[in-house]
Parts: sequence; structure tokens; C-alpha cells
Amino acid sequence: MEMGGKNLKCLATIAFICAFVWSFSLQNCQARGGKHWAHRKTGGYRHGRIHRHRGGSSSLGLTDSGHVGSEDVVGASLASKGDASKGGSGNFNVLDFGAKGDGRADDTKAFQAAWESACNAEKSTVEVPSGSEFLVGPISFSGPNCKPNIVFQLDGKIIAPTSPSAWGSGLLQWIEFTKLKGITVKGTGTIDGQGSVWWNDSPTYDPTDENLDKESSSRKLPSTKPTALRFYGSDGVTVSGITIQNSQQAHLKFDSCTSVQVSSLTISSPGDSPNTDGIHLQNSQNVIISNSNLACGDDCISIQTGSSAVYIHNVNCGPGHGISIGGLGRDQTKACVSNVTVRDVKLQNTMNGVRIKTWQGGSGLVQGILFSNIQVSDVKTPIMIDQYYCDGGSCHNGSSAVAISGVNYVNIRGTYTSTPVHLACSDSLPCTGVTLDTIQLEGSGRSNEPFCWKAYGELKTSTVPAIECLQSGNPGKAQSHNSC
Ligand SMILES: *[C@@H]1O[C@H](CO)[C@@H](O)[C@H](O)[C@H]1NC(C)=O
Ligand SMILES: *[C@@H]1O[C@H](CO)[C@@H](O)[C@H](O)[C@H]1NC(C)=O
Repeated sequence: MEMGGKNLKCLATIAFICAFVWSFSLQNCQARGGKHWAHRKTGGYRHGRIHRHRGGSSSLGLTDSGHVGSEDVVGASLASKGDASKGGSGNFNVLDFGAKGDGRADDTKAFQAAWESACNAEKSTVEVPSGSEFLVGPISFSGPNCKPNIVFQLDGKIIAPTSPSAWGSGLLQWIEFTKLKGITVKGTGTIDGQGSVWWNDSPTYDPTDENLDKESSSRKLPSTKPTALRFYGSDGVTVSGITIQNSQQAHLKFDSCTSVQVSSLTISSPGDSPNTDGIHLQNSQNVIISNSNLACGDDCISIQTGSSAVYIHNVNCGPGHGISIGGLGRDQTKACVSNVTVRDVKLQNTMNGVRIKTWQGGSGLVQGILFSNIQVSDVKTPIMIDQYYCDGGSCHNGSSAVAISGVNYVNIRGTYTSTPVHLACSDSLPCTGVTLDTIQLEGSGRSNEPFCWKAYGELKTSTVPAIECLQSGNPGKAQSHNSC
């Protein structure tokens, strides 16, 4: 708001309006900045923006930091206060905020605007309707001052830009929901990262692609590949029904979240797409993942440090690398994962089945793990603990390790193609409390014997094949004193 050069009377009027708007805003939202006021109401915003934006909609006007340029939405209209008829709640359809949904025009700002309105309203829903395809650049649905329990109803399709200019020097995520209390993303819609341009080492561009201007076609995509959909620092997160496909890197990440529920999710990417984890958990507690189909090029579910009370059931995985805890303890870090249950899971054509992997030299503890009713089919190595994990480069053995204690395998059945059981535990900190109960694994062709190294625990039943390498009892003095 420009104050300079105005006479006193004008200043007083502006001050009055500001005070009025400010007091009004306090009822709805702890506004962080002027831009919240501007698009609090649908109508005023709608008029303020569409005309201005029409011209440049085919090239994504995103800044290098990935923040959507908000200059032309700021201060769109103070006159919008006449639109209070919606009573501060309701549905906010992105089409009403100027989204074109033609798969070509940049709809980022329309999504941002719909979000800002929903953020300030009680029990609000952002609607992304079916039958349309929305091109949306990197975007953050940011929450610290939003009303709780926003629903993001996704029935249409959201696609990511493939032009290097949209990604600047590299971003950790494409679509982010951050610092929210109660956020639900549900519907029958699809989030498509259009990742194939990122998967190839030297991307080639279609010169007829309208999203490509001359400048950007000479540039390459940044080496940092984004996660398609990431939730950060939120409590009460639900993701249900949607499909996430062809992500640039991981499909769905939860970082520093509590009370997370994922159900009826479909993840779909080719088995040879690099680093395309399905669901990635980090620093998150009370997580339930159920009734989902996960097909990707890396771990279907990856459970990282800080995760506890994780319950995964009725999930299909494949193609992919299986369900993994870790890699943990990289670069001498401390890692803690506890109370993870994975049950009633089918893995088909995956590299591993259920796996725990830690790097040499770390510290911390993995404990309280149950893998139960796991059905494998043509899985290379169904049961794996690898405390010598080394993902490229050269690694040397350290004297410390992330300890592994209390890992129970119950009713693991099916077929494998390489090794049925591979338990490679640390020399300095052997695994303890590993139990195997009702293991029935059938090899195909030439396959290896079960392998154990420094693995201590108990066979609860006889197994097929016979597993004779598990050592009973405790390793004595070398037992772990790691804690979390
Ligand atoms: C893990 O479960 C045990 C047993 O139910 C419980 O005592 C412990 O507090 C849990 N740990 C975490 C970090 O949730
Ligand atoms: C690390 O230790 C394991 C188990 O003792 C051994 O098989 C492996 O060769 C060692 N690796 C290196 C790089 O020393």
C-alpha cells in the first residue's frame, strides 16, 4: 500500500480501512501478511486476477526458489468485503479461481488462490474437479495460520511441468502441504509428476512442447529431483483414494508428521524408474498405511529415522524394491525406528521383500518390528537384514552400528528367485531377538541357501527351507547398549 504523497485526510481514511480489515481478519485467520487479506473472498479475487494473468499463462512464472510469484495477487482487491455471503466456509473450486484445466495453461496461481481462501474458512474444501487436467508448478499449501481440517478434494488430474525453467536450480518437492492441523487429500483424481523426463540421464525434449521456450530448451533439468507430494510438520493427515504416478523421485513423503492415515492409494511408476520410492516416512509417528497398491522403481515403502508406531497392512507392492526400514545411520548419524508392524502384504516381482538396511558407522536402534503374513511371489530376497548397506561409492566397515533388536517374522510364504533369507548383521553389534515363525519359501531354479552373519534369535517353528544359520541366545558382551 503506497502511503507516500497522500494528504492527511487520505491517510486517515486508509488507516481506518486498514484497521477495519485488520480486525475483520483476526476473526478468520492470524494473517501473516497482506496477501491473505487480498484473496480472502472469492469474488474480489476472481475479478482482480484473471485478466491480468491470461496473457502469460503458458509459461510458468516461477522463481528459482520454487515460490510462486505472488506479486500480482497481492492487494488484488480490498473491495471484496462485500462478498462475505459465503459465511467463511464452503467449497473452493479451482475453476472459480481462474484455473483453465486444459493441461497447458499454468494453473498454479489459481490453486494458490483457492488454497488461500480455503485456509481462512471453517470446514473448507478445495475442489479439483474431474474431467480436467491442471498444469501446476511447484506449490506449497502452507498452513501455520489456516483453520484446521481442510479437505483437498482431488477428482481431476494434476500434472507437473516438464520445462527446466519451472524448477530453477532444484527443489525438494513439487506439491507440499506444510504445518497443517487436519489435512485430507482424497478423491478419485491423479497426481502425475511426468517423471520420465527426469529419469533419463540426458533428457531430450520435444521441440513442439508448448511449455518449452527457446531459453529453457537449452537448459537441463536440475540434478535435485523433487518428491511429487510431501507433507511436512502436520498433525492428522489423511490421504485416500488418489493415484500418484510417474513421480520425478519419491511419490509421497511424510516428514515430521503425526497421526497419518493412508488408504486406498495407488502409486504407479515403471519398475526401472530410478529412485521413485512409493511412500517415504521420516520423523513421523502413528502412521497407518492400508489397502493400497504400490508399483514403482524403488522401495514401495521406505521407513526412515524418527519413525515409530507405524502400521502397514493389506498393501500390494510390485514392481519395486520391497518394504524397507532404512537405509539408516548414513554418515555416522544416529537413527531410531521402533514399533513397526507390516502385515497382510503381497509382494510380487520385487527386489526384496521385507528389509532392514543400515550403514556402517551409525548409531541408534531399530526395535519392535513385526513382519506378519507376507506373501512373496518371484521376489529376489524375501527376508533381508543388511547392516553393511552401501548405496554406491566405497564404504568401509565402522566400529559402530545402528543396533537391531527384536525383529519378528511370522508366516512368510511364497517364491523367491535368489536367496530366501539374508541376515547380514554387524560384527560390532550383532542383531538380537530375531525370530522366525512359519517360514515357507520356495526357490526357483538355482538359488542360494539361507545366509546369516552375527544374527541371534530363535526359530519358533521348523522352516522351509531349513534355516540353520541363526544363532540362538545372546551374543554376550557384544550386546547392544545403543539407545534412542
Ligand atoms: C513401542 O511400543 C512399546 C510397547 O508397546 C511401548 O512401550 C513404547 O513406548 C513404544 N515406543 C514408541 C517410541 O512408541
Ligand atoms: C565388512 O565386514 C564384513 C563382515 O565381517 C565383511 O564380510 C566385509 O568384507 C567387510 N567389508 C570391508 C569393506 O572391509
